[in-house]
Amino acid sequence: MNRGRELFIAGSADDLAREAAARLVEIAHRAINERGGCSLAVSGGSTPRRLYQLLTQPPYRQAIDWSRVHIFFADERYVPHDDPDSTARLIAETLLAGNPAIAPEQVHAMPTEGEPEASAADYARTLAAFFDGQPPAFDLILLGMGPDGHTASLFPGRPDSDLSVAVVQDSPKPPPTRLTLTLPTIRAAREILFLVTGADKAATLEQIFHSDPDDNQALPAARVTGRDGRSMWLVDTDAGRGLHAFATL
Ligand code: 6PG
Repeated sequence: MNRGRELFIAGSADDLAREAAARLVEIAHRAINERGGCSLAVSGGSTPRRLYQLLTQPPYRQAIDWSRVHIFFADERYVPHDDPDSTARLIAETLLAGNPAIAPEQVHAMPTEGEPEASAADYARTLAAFFDGQPPAFDLILLGMGPDGHTASLFPGRPDSDLSVAVVQDSPKPPPTRLTLTLPTIRAAREILFLVTGADKAATLEQIFHSDPDDNQALPAARVTGRDGRSMWLVDTDAGRGLHAFATL
């Protein structure tokens, strides 16, 4: 019925952050035990800030061997890394500021200087080097969703790309220029975790939960699954008000 979408409706934004932190710990443990490390791609926006802060506090900070975690970005606004809009700045101010166990060489920010196309190609090389020349296969990608059904910086009505990193111009969500992992790269991840809050996303979530991820006309967030067709959705009661029939967790 859910087409691989697991759904947890949290009572509050704090409950959602705690549930997300617990799942991230579980996924990181499994990745480190099975492969010696965890590759995590993070998103920007307002929703995940609480999660990033929570991960620097007990018990989560001690629950993961953070020296084994490499942090990548699902997308980035094409602004300097010290710009208030920068996701690199968001991560620096939250996850990294509170966790010295994460060394700078474990953090792979998307470059945002010079020509965007060149920066996208540069980041694609960074991914290729990290994944030994194989297609990038993140252990976990943390994603949000906009009211229009975008995720990362994949917006409705935009052409698909078979690159691993694409440039987005004229983004409907400011700032206008962004870099983003592409759908094939996101769909190659082992685990996908969406965090969605707010009543303004409720109608879109209902549409998504009735959508087939393999329908290339569906909204970008509807088309996202992990490599085995699954995705985890953690939503608050406002965003999930029409989804109770779909709740699986
Ligand atoms: C970004 C994000 C974007 C975000 C959604 C939800 O950099 O803007 O990658 O995809 O996750 O727009 O944003 P909120 O969490 O602020 O609602």
